[in-house]
Amino acid sequence: MSIKRAVPIGIGHYLPSRIVENKEFEESLDTSDDWIKARSGIERRHFAADTELTSDLGFLAAQSALKNAALNANEIDALIVATSTPDLTFPSTATKIQYQLGMNTGFAFDIQAVCAGFVFALANANALILSGQARKVMIIGAETFSRIMNWKDRSTCVLFGDGAGALILEAQEGNGDNKDRGIIATDLNSDGGYRDILYVDGGVSKTQSSGVLVMEGKEVYKHAVVKLAQTADTVLSKAKIETKDIDWVVPHQANLRIIKSTVQKLGIDMNRVIVTVQNHGNTSAASIPLALSVANQENKIKKGDLLLTEAIGGGLAWGSVLVRW
Ligand code: ACO
Repeated sequence: MSIKRAVPIGIGHYLPSRIVENKEFEESLDTSDDWIKARSGIERRHFAADTELTSDLGFLAAQSALKNAALNANEIDALIVATSTPDLTFPSTATKIQYQLGMNTGFAFDIQAVCAGFVFALANANALILSGQARKVMIIGAETFSRIMNWKDRSTCVLFGDGAGALILEAQEGNGDNKDRGIIATDLNSDGGYRDILYVDGGVSKTQSSGVLVMEGKEVYKHAVVKLAQTADTVLSKAKIETKDIDWVVPHQANLRIIKSTVQKLGIDMNRVIVTVQNHGNTSAASIPLALSVANQENKIKKGDLLLTEAIGGGLAWGSVLVRW
């Protein structure tokens, strides 16, 4: 049976030039390079310049993905930006990037599912392609989390970074089995009962300000390991795929210990996991496309490889997507 699949045809990323090593935090906080590395796996992260906006990061990632796909912006039908740090309350960061790209056709909108944003955007892009509403969709994960840090809270401000990644998907014909290239299965979840363990304490309606990130790290950690393994199991059983068939896990890059515990639960060896958290920190919705793009540049991910992406973030919201590269 011939069916439509959403197939990756281009990937790119952008990281701001300013690199902040763990040591830099020792000057202003009671923390250490050793503690940050041991508890999170993070060694450094990039911070955007004051003049650089989320849209600027996303635009540069988008340009890089278009170049990789050998496309121009007007060939894209839909542009989705996953972000929790938009330039403005409205209009969407996606429409700003659409303008920056010189794209005057198609449609653009933002998705907000915090660190799970890219996985939610992938599933939505897949739905747009399968329903015939778009043939080529660009998904961008772009964040400036440095703008919502409480610089006095050592338990959060050392963990996050800024950056952007972009992926272009195209409708192609598949056979309908799990050997097809493209998105094979998706699984999305959320539970607002946990909204108080990870949130930003400001917003338009409540405080008319943007606020700073607040996290009960230990609680989030416990949910992350259990829920990421559950969503991975669900997406694998939907696709009738076993863990041994996965070439690469491309997880949300929040904490190396969470990544290791999750893949251990799934019975997958760390040599099949893409890890960039040491260089990027947690870039929220940008972390998976950044990891994909870096792995692609390093020639780790090859055409036809089966990838499992999974993420959890504020909401709580979590999910996973199986995609054959
Ligand atoms: N430097 C030194 N000590 C610190 C630091 C720091 N930067 N931060 C916290 N500590 C201290 C704490 O105060 C505590 O001290 P105490 O025992 O005297 O009270 C001690 O270190 C241990 O703190 P814990 O919070 O128990 O440390 P833990 O091992 O849980 O690691 C961490 C903390 C890294 C935050 C971890 O819990 C974690 O990664 N949680 C999940 C975060 C995550 O994945 N978020 C993803 C979603 S993000 C999103 O959606 C936006």
